[in-house]
Amino acid sequence: MAGNSNQWNNNTAFLLAATGSAVGLGNIWGFPYKAGENGGGLFVLLYIFFVITLGFPVFMAEVFIGKKGKSNPVSSVENLAKASNSSKGWSIIGYGGILASLIIAGYYAVIAGFVINYGFISAGGVDVGAAEAIYTSEKANFWEMTMWFSIFLFGSGFVVANGIDKGIDKAMRVLLPMLFVLVFAMVGYGAYAGDFSKGLEYLFSWKAEDGITAGMIQGAIGQAFFSLSIGMGTLMAFGAYMPNDQKVSKASGVVVTADTGVAILAGLAIFPLAFGIYGAQWSPDAGGDTLVFVTLTEAFARLGDLGQFVGPLFFFLLAVAAFSSMISILEPSVAFVTEKLTRNPTKNTRKIATLIIMAICFALSLISVAGHNVWADKSLGTLENPFEMMKYFADDFLLLLVGAGMSIFVGWRLQNVVNSDDMGITNKGFMNLWVFVLKFISPIFLLGIWVLGNLDRIFEISFF
Ligand code: TRP
Repeated sequence: MAGNSNQWNNNTAFLLAATGSAVGLGNIWGFPYKAGENGGGLFVLLYIFFVITLGFPVFMAEVFIGKKGKSNPVSSVENLAKASNSSKGWSIIGYGGILASLIIAGYYAVIAGFVINYGFISAGGVDVGAAEAIYTSEKANFWEMTMWFSIFLFGSGFVVANGIDKGIDKAMRVLLPMLFVLVFAMVGYGAYAGDFSKGLEYLFSWKAEDGITAGMIQGAIGQAFFSLSIGMGTLMAFGAYMPNDQKVSKASGVVVTADTGVAILAGLAIFPLAFGIYGAQWSPDAGGDTLVFVTLTEAFARLGDLGQFVGPLFFFLLAVAAFSSMISILEPSVAFVTEKLTRNPTKNTRKIATLIIMAICFALSLISVAGHNVWADKSLGTLENPFEMMKYFADDFLLLLVGAGMSIFVGWRLQNVVNSDDMGITNKGFMNLWVFVLKFISPIFLLGIWVLGNLDRIFEISFF
């Protein structure tokens, strides 16, 4: 094998891969619909607040674990536990992350499959008023959904199987520039064809009567972690390939800023367009997570012939964003299994590992597809079907727990490993602040909101 296969061979690779990971369905599909469901401005404000106060510090903690641990998520944590005389049991953080990654991969591929399908549907032209019925019939089709998610799943598996330089880095160099051009094009189009000031007002102002609930805070934190790719080992895995002289704080800052920027830009592309087409009276909370598939499809239909161009362009943007994220969702588990297999190494270890992970994800995706049709009525508390359950269990349940675990591990156990040179934080005050947040603020907040949010969402017990 040429070169050092366990390290990116340049300094931009981490930035590209981590940004490609962060910017995904979470930004363009998830953020706008969650903002819509929660009344706009207040949710956006909470979201930005949590990105800065919790997301950024925990993001750095995860990258740091990878950079120092230099291995897959489980072994990285184990290596650092050993180096700091801590229990081997900390590796549960790594296993929790890998479990979350498999579940996320399972449902993520299904939404991405929808995206590809909708690219074709909107290109073919949709009759005004038909979007709702189309969604209902697409959702009911188990085998068609299976076909679309399989294309997406095995496509991203192919890139991952080819390794980090020849696969991931190479793919990101094409996908990421494309993504940014498309996002700006969509915002431009929204501003030109839509009601930009109404969209702005919706996203950035809130009314005094908007109440905050525990579920909403949990949702905002869960969304922030999900969008930043925190809590399932992606950042550990990518951090492990970081060259020694790259600084964690600077690299993290770039990725966090780019990710938050794209989420807001996605809102600025979608809401002005929808308000412009449906009128200022339109209420974004009506469709929930069907904002993109029903509301926007309908909006594209009302654009007439132009919609057959703008629609596919939008879904192509989503597919590109989803693809680069999916690669990163697969990397932690593939890296883990690859290492487990290297006891009797062959040239194809990574390929075999990818196949094993593909098989697991395929099974989980089938469950997620079934949640849309054959098992659509199997509910748990406020979670309406198995698809919702997987999404909830991974995003709002596991990610917050793993995030809290990483905070505690770095804040309390790695005092002697943490150093300003790897972090790139020379100011002592900032360093102390970061460690303080990891030690106290993020664990208390994450675990507290985890308890309240679960009571609210599963048992329907609310305190405020
Ligand atoms: N952040 C991606 C998105 O917004 C999804 C994703 C990729 C992710 N890797 C992750 C989420 C790791 C959580 C953890 O779509």
